[in-house]
Amino acid sequence: MARRRIIAGNWKMNMTPSQAKELCATLKDLVANDAVDVVYCVPAIDITTVVEAVAGTNVKVGAENFYIEDKGAFTGEISAPMLKEAGVEYVIMGHSERRDIFGEDDILINAKVKKAFAAGLKPILCCGESLAVRKAGTYVDWVKRQITWDLYGVTADQVKELVIAYEPIWAIGTGETATADQAQEVCKMIRETIADLYDAATAEAVRIQYGGSMNAGNAAELLSKDDIDGGLIGGAALKPDFGQIVNA
Ligand code: 13P
Repeated sequence: MARRRIIAGNWKMNMTPSQAKELCATLKDLVANDAVDVVYCVPAIDITTVVEAVAGTNVKVGAENFYIEDKGAFTGEISAPMLKEAGVEYVIMGHSERRDIFGEDDILINAKVKKAFAAGLKPILCCGESLAVRKAGTYVDWVKRQITWDLYGVTADQVKELVIAYEPIWAIGTGETATADQAQEVCKMIRETIADLYDAATAEAVRIQYGGSMNAGNAAELLSKDDIDGGLIGGAALKPDFGQIVNA
């Protein structure tokens, strides 16, 4: 089964609303490719601006975070129903920056996966090992454990709609990309883990991205690999290069 390619930008904590609008205008023609799912995951404050800016184009809007309750006394947080109503379709969870800087663990991430589906949002679930784990050689078990915990109680039909992003932490923002073979090795293992946890059809359907210093120069090789169905792009998503990645 051919899986549809998905190229998502993770803008992280970049772009004021006016800058966001400008970036959408810059990228508009460069990312116009109906054969690919193109997603901009943007800071909450930019969502309304970006939804408006990409209306009528092939670009979908994603969020970078949310909290698992629908509403209430959670100062500073935004909920999945809020994102949904604002026009968001995808939402990132499990990103290493949220795990490491904001202390999010697999129990919370698992709750986020379920809440996103309940609210009609598609999760982009991130996983990936640190440099220490990579050097210790235990990265396969590490990523397998993350996926297993994060998907606990999630149904096969939901997993078929899920996007998993493999982002080795040592390759994020460092300019040091995993080689295409290194990325493929782990993405293949993730698919095998889904086959073990669910079944072959679910493993075949789930889309797996690579993320970590993906750029206009290395995207084509990474994306040529059997189990790499797309990319989650940080730095290069803020530049015209993003268009080259979409069309790689
Ligand atoms: P960079 O592309 O800047 O390495 O970031 C990757 C990432 O963390 C995407 O979520």
